[in-house]
Amino acid sequence: MFPKKLQQKLNDRNDDNSLRELGTFNNLIDFSSNDYLGFSKSKNIYTKAHDFLIDNEVEQNGATGSRLLSGSHKLYSVLENTLSAFHNSDSALVYNSGYDANLGIFSSVPQRGDVILYDEHIHASIRDGITMSNAKSYKFKHNDLKDLDAILKRVQNDSEIYIATESVFSMDGDSPDLVALVNLCKAYNAYLIVDEAHAVGIFGKNGKGLIQELGLEKQIFARIITFGKAMGCHGASILGSKQLKDYLVNFSRSFIYTTALSPHSIATILFAYEELLVTKTIKKLRQNILFFKAEINKLKLQDYFINSDSSIQCCIISGNDKVKAIAQRFQQKGFDVKAILSPTVPKEQERLRFCLHAYNSEKEITAILTLLEICI
Ligand SMILES: Cc1ncc(COP(=O)(O)O)c(C=O)c1O
Repeated sequence: MFPKKLQQKLNDRNDDNSLRELGTFNNLIDFSSNDYLGFSKSKNIYTKAHDFLIDNEVEQNGATGSRLLSGSHKLYSVLENTLSAFHNSDSALVYNSGYDANLGIFSSVPQRGDVILYDEHIHASIRDGITMSNAKSYKFKHNDLKDLDAILKRVQNDSEIYIATESVFSMDGDSPDLVALVNLCKAYNAYLIVDEAHAVGIFGKNGKGLIQELGLEKQIFARIITFGKAMGCHGASILGSKQLKDYLVNFSRSFIYTTALSPHSIATILFAYEELLVTKTIKKLRQNILFFKAEINKLKLQDYFINSDSSIQCCIISGNDKVKAIAQRFQQKGFDVKAILSPTVPKEQERLRFCLHAYNSEKEITAILTLLEICI
């Protein structure tokens, strides 16, 4: 027995060639994961975290409860102090995932009568948080500050205004003009919240993120950083003022009502941060991004791509059927390249999303782009 309406929804997805299915692990050349620096497979980080736990007698598998009950084990404060210092923030509050962090801040901070303005391409976790909030919300055109300005003019009498964006968009790889955005927020006394999930580990000194590369960290209400992407671990943190941290500890339900991360997870994040200070992989990743962009130009493919300086490079190929067929061709040739289908992105904006890593070779990059030239 299964509800008819749900079956119909699955059938619709199937008819649209957009039914999602879980893949299995493959041995293809990785142009798809978020493991930009290869940290998820770093033996050094793994061994250091393991030895640290044993040396400090933290031999405990799970956290045993929520942070507010029994789960706030001693490594949490070590990590949150490390994060505040590294990211030049007054405070840091660790969440179990980026999804939880976005749900937690957007559902609890904007109040009834407030307004949230968000980029139309914002991540699903932010949308879900906004849906749970009592504030009104309006979207603005992607990275379009003129459109945002026009909306700000209309809403400026509302009590508080929050603006949500990403420093690197997860499905586009591009970035807003953050300096201009900060100035716009100042002009309207709006609070800016920036998701740095795909910027940490890639931009800024030692991978501190795009906000710190631009020196804007003190002008932003909150930053969301995640550990499941370039850091190769799991979890996330909200960076902001001490009052914001106090508020979230008291009112953010995705922080309060969940079991905390285990000591092992926290130790792994700590040693991933230590690795950022010495790794040569950030430089290699940046070289690969430049090489990829130069190759696109050489092959005259640049018009198909969304302009991006990040490790996410997207080639627009309209239609679920077409983009899926091309992605399959890449997979048959040994490359793990993923098609991003509608409804994840708008219809006709379907795309191949190439995620670049420090461990991709120039030979591999040339090979995928040569294949792309043949396919499109
Ligand atoms: C921009 C952005 N924010 C938040 C998240 C969620 O992070 P996590 O995977 O840690 O839940 C993602 C990951 O998909 C993302 O791309």
